[in-house]
Amino acid sequence: MRCDIISIFPEYLEPLKLSLPGQAQRKGLLDVAVHDLRDFSHDRHRTVDDTPYGGGAGMVMKPQPWWEALEHVRTLGDGTPTLIVPGPGGEVLTQRLARELADEDWLIFACGRYEGIDERVYEAAADVMPVRVISLGDYVLNGGEVAVLAMIEAAARLLPGFMGNAESLVEESHEDGLLEYPVYTKPATWQGREVPPVLLSGDHGKVAAWRHQQRLERTAARRPDLLHASSALTPGGVDDRWGGARIAKATPADVGDLLTCTHACWLREGILNDTLTIPAQHETVESLTASLHEWDTYVLRHDGRFIGSVRGKLVDDTWHIGRLMVVPDLHGRGLGGALLEFIQEVAPSDATRFELFTGTGSEHNLKLYKKAGFRGVVQPNGTTVVFTKRRRGR
Ligand SMILES: C[S@@+](CC[C@H](N)C(=O)[O-])C[C@H]1O[C@@H](n2cnc3c(N)ncnc32)[C@H](O)[C@@H]1O
Repeated sequence: MRCDIISIFPEYLEPLKLSLPGQAQRKGLLDVAVHDLRDFSHDRHRTVDDTPYGGGAGMVMKPQPWWEALEHVRTLGDGTPTLIVPGPGGEVLTQRLARELADEDWLIFACGRYEGIDERVYEAAADVMPVRVISLGDYVLNGGEVAVLAMIEAAARLLPGFMGNAESLVEESHEDGLLEYPVYTKPATWQGREVPPVLLSGDHGKVAAWRHQQRLERTAARRPDLLHASSALTPGGVDDRWGGARIAKATPADVGDLLTCTHACWLREGILNDTLTIPAQHETVESLTASLHEWDTYVLRHDGRFIGSVRGKLVDDTWHIGRLMVVPDLHGRGLGGALLEFIQEVAPSDATRFELFTGTGSEHNLKLYKKAGFRGVVQPNGTTVVFTKRRRGR
């Protein structure tokens, strides 16, 4: 990965030569070049700022030195770089965003100072390369350099071959939406404080279960906003027929689990019906994310684990039900029937009938829907059965 950084304080970026980013450069995984913005000014004071049009406090960075600097830096690498402009008004740096940065071959970082960079630089840059404004958090720094240090460090440690132990990346805070469990090293007793005994038990299963529980508790205590909406609901918040599980409307954070389970369940449907043309088999992260606007999708979770889902959509007076699924290891416990009951209950008041369909080879589904009072009609194609049911009392 190549990183070009433009700043009026090039020495601020010196720490990138240290520690792991420094090693990554020596290993040839990361190529960092720092450029002094003042080299692109043309007066003897090396001016890069001026007063703001419209008045107001502070100074604004002039477009001319920025544009010349960007044009120069763009000649230094191959292909099209992505321009990253640190700014408190940008998308917030997260582990997911760091991963996106790590996937780029070439990044140019534009470190603003004063009241920021003349807006026309962003516009002109966007004509020739992708531009992203990224914030370190909801507070204001004096300049973009600290943010660039954080972004490069967060992205560089995700480069393949950068960290010695790839496992330590997988288990880290934010990698799967939870914070990391507490960690301990020798001695087992320090100042009278013991390491949790389970960690000394040698039982890997128990250690893993303990760590997972710690991650959930720590996330709930420190960052409840990170927990899925569904696990944040109070028991019985929507319904308590699920035992300890909770059901809630799906959010974009649920899409990874939804996609995995959709593919697993509809692979089985494909085998039963001898087809790979079922739309569910062809879903992507993008199509499922978009579907959340069109469908009311509900997700069932137990202790944070995704265990099932169902969705509904009103067309005229018909509540279309679909994507009823339960994770394979929990089949046969009545969860599918409960989800089907639930999605009928939450149908909008305008719905006077329900409709869903399945393949003629999906015997389990056929039984489930009949038992729930639906009437099926095999379609002329011979492969699909459409089930309908009048809503009670309508
Ligand atoms: C004093 S700030 C300018 C703040 C700007 N007037 C505003 O209110 O959005 C100067 C520079 O610091 C950087 N900066 C400040 N806060 C930041 C943050 N939270 N994340 C990333 N960069 C930040 C940006 O490069 C910005 O151009």
